[in-house]
Parts: sequence; C-alpha cells; structure tokens
Amino acid sequence: MRRVFAPSGPLRGTVAAPPDKSLSHRAALFAAMCDDPVPITGYLDAADTNSTLAAVQALGALVERRGEELVVRGPGLRAAAAAEAPIDVGNAGTLMRVLPGWLAGQEGGRWTLDGDPSIRRRPVDRIAEPLRAMGARLRAREDRYPPFTVEGGALRGIEYRLPVASAQVKSCVLIAGLLAEGPTTVVEPAPSRDHTERLLAAAGVRVDRADGAVTVAPQDELELGAVHVPGDPSSAAFLVAAAVLVPGSRIVVEGMAANWTRVGFLRILERMGAIVLGDLEAPDAAAADAEPVCELDVAAGPLTGTAVEPGEVPLAIDELPLVALLGCFAEGETVVRGAQELRLKESDRIATVVDGLRGLGADIEATADGFAVRGTGRLRGGTLDAHGDHRLAMLGAVAGLASDDGVAVEGMEAAAVSYPGFEADVAALLGA
Ligand code: S3P
Repeated sequence: MRRVFAPSGPLRGTVAAPPDKSLSHRAALFAAMCDDPVPITGYLDAADTNSTLAAVQALGALVERRGEELVVRGPGLRAAAAAEAPIDVGNAGTLMRVLPGWLAGQEGGRWTLDGDPSIRRRPVDRIAEPLRAMGARLRAREDRYPPFTVEGGALRGIEYRLPVASAQVKSCVLIAGLLAEGPTTVVEPAPSRDHTERLLAAAGVRVDRADGAVTVAPQDELELGAVHVPGDPSSAAFLVAAAVLVPGSRIVVEGMAANWTRVGFLRILERMGAIVLGDLEAPDAAAADAEPVCELDVAAGPLTGTAVEPGEVPLAIDELPLVALLGCFAEGETVVRGAQELRLKESDRIATVVDGLRGLGADIEATADGFAVRGTGRLRGGTLDAHGDHRLAMLGAVAGLASDDGVAVEGMEAAAVSYPGFEADVAALLGA
C-alpha cells in the first residue's frame, strides 16, 4: 500500500499513546503462566501482539474479550499444551525469542516456532546458546534461524553473561529460570528495558537486581493481579518527532509509559535541544516494580546534532531511525555508535534507514555499528520503501510531513504490526 505524506501544517492537540507492544507481549505470556485468570486492560490490538494471543491460545490458554478488558486464563507455569501445528509468530521477534524460555522447561512437550520472511532472517542462536547451557534441546535452521524447535525438559539454573544487551534474551533466560533447578542469573553489559523484571516481581517472584545482574529462583506458580498496559514510548516517538520537526506544532501525549529504561530517546531529544516536558522516571527508580505513566508536552523547535554512545543504544534501540531523521534537520553532525544490533531488526535498519533517508535527500552514511548524518536543516522528499518494517513505514510518514516535497511510502500497511492507528492519530493532530 502506497501512501503519500505531504508537507504539513502544525500538529496540535492531545493524543493517547497507543498501548505498549513490549508490555502487551509480556502481559499475555505471563498471564498464560498463571493458574488464575488475569484481566489485562490496554492490551495492544496489533498484528504482533495478536500473534502472541494466538500463541498462548495454542498452548492452552483461554482468551476472552470483555469490553475494554482482555481476560487470559492460563494453562499455568508447567502446563503448556502440546500444539499440533507450528506456532506462527508472524513478524514478532519478541514472541520468537521470549516464548522458547517457557517452552524449554515444559517436560515432555515439543513445539516449533516459525514466522514471516523477516522473522526467518532474524537469528535465534542468541537464545539457543543460554537455553542449551540450561539443558534444553533445540533445533534451528542452519543452527541459527527459524523455524525453531524446542523440546521441553528438565532445566538447570545458570549464570549467563549476555554478549550484547538484549531484553528479549534476558527475558527468555529468566523465564526458563522459573522452571529450572537452582537460581538463574543474567548479567547485562548495559541496562536494557526491564518490563520482565517488573512483571515477574508483580507476579510474586523474588527478583534480585544488583550491579547489572538479575537473579530469579525456581517457582511453583505465578500469581498476577490485574495488569494495565500503558502507552508505548516507541510508537509515541513518531508523533513526538513529527511535533518537534513541523514548525508551530505542540502536542500532548497522554498515558505513556515513563519507565526509565524505555525513554532514552527523549533524553537524546532533549540533548538535541527539543522541548519535551513530562514526568519521566528517574534512573534510581529503575528497580521499581510498577510501570509509571506520564503525560508528555512537546513543541517544535530548533535542534543541534548529538552523539549517541553505545551505552545509550539499548535504551533507545527502536527509536534510533528517528534520531537519524532528526539529525537531518539539526545543526551539525549526529552520530550513532555501538548500534550494530539494528542490522538484526525487522529489516537491516542501518541499511534501510540510511538508504531510505538518502533517497529523500539526506546527507547520511552508514558505519559498521550505526550511522552519521550531517544536518542540512531540511529534507527534500521522494519515495521510501518500508521493506515490510513497521518502524520504517512510520519513519517515512514523519519525514514526509517535515519535508519540502512530501514522501510517498511504499508498504505503509506494515505500520499495523505495532501501531494500526498511526495514520488516524496523525490526521487528528493535523486537524484533518
Ligand atoms: C524488545 C526488545 C528489543 C526491541 C524490540 C522489543 C522487547 O529487542 O528492539 O522491539 O520487547 O524485549 P532486543 O532485546 O533484541 O534488543
């Protein structure tokens, strides 16, 4: 689907941040691991998170919609049902990498996970390595890619040092740890999003967190009260970037997750000189159990270039394409380092962002682990191919609003993977 985003007048008004994708995946998975029904409000109704609902149903959970509420009745921590067909994760990398942690500890079961062509290009060896160290039996194509087969069995706890900070891998190992013998510790080289730790704590699990290490002990059962999924900072980031770039804009984003491990993009944006006001969580609160929510007030303004260093990357990983776009409009150079993980996302986001923005007139080049942009204060416009990547599609749309000539996005339908209401929210803020 081709959509044209013409240069626009200001974005103005209030918008509810769309529900968080990361937390929706986790809420459904953890609810399915509980014995008692778990009501979830704010669950994201998008392709990725619907794949997770279908997966937990295939594993024996009952999922009922009651108005705004979703009720998940799990099979329980040790009772995932045998699935006759392969579990189709669609485009959802989080589902592909987190679910095997649960399945690996289900004695006697055997499951295959598969997905779309993009998923089949994304490595699963990063979870296979620690799960094998715990005693799991696994098979992957070329020992690296989906389809991925997990044979459940007895697991033993390990201490695992993540080679690269990844919330998906951390979550997978911690969940397997709930089913293992003895404690399991994951050590991260840098902080990544901590939704799993917070939800586990809310489910009654003792989660010890100190000096970059997270430890859990085996559990008999999980017990989760009602879960509310707040708004997604990664989805809201597209609206925020549009408001910063289009002169005269001022928007308020309501109900957004303010978790310190998710709002690294806003810290980068502030450093670039943008005016972003909101009650964001302080770093020393990062060991909290709850998911704080905030209201953001954003206005358009001039930007200066910045350097994003490796330690910041996991805290803004999904928003780095927007940093490249903002860099086009900033004064001076914007550089991102230590972001080689971008090559393993829904598309190779170093290549697709650099090629896509260059095609619109940007002065940008790829590096081995990121990119460098020389700001020219403007972007000509043109055509951008989303390559089936939801975040690239929305990047093209925002680029179009801020450009001289507009941007035609090829493959705009990809936005429905994480943010089906994106175009409607943009139209509402434009007063269309
Ligand atoms: C996610 C973690 C990140 C992120 C992805 C969602 C999660 O991936 O890019 O969109 O929900 O845990 P990595 O853990 O691979 O960095």
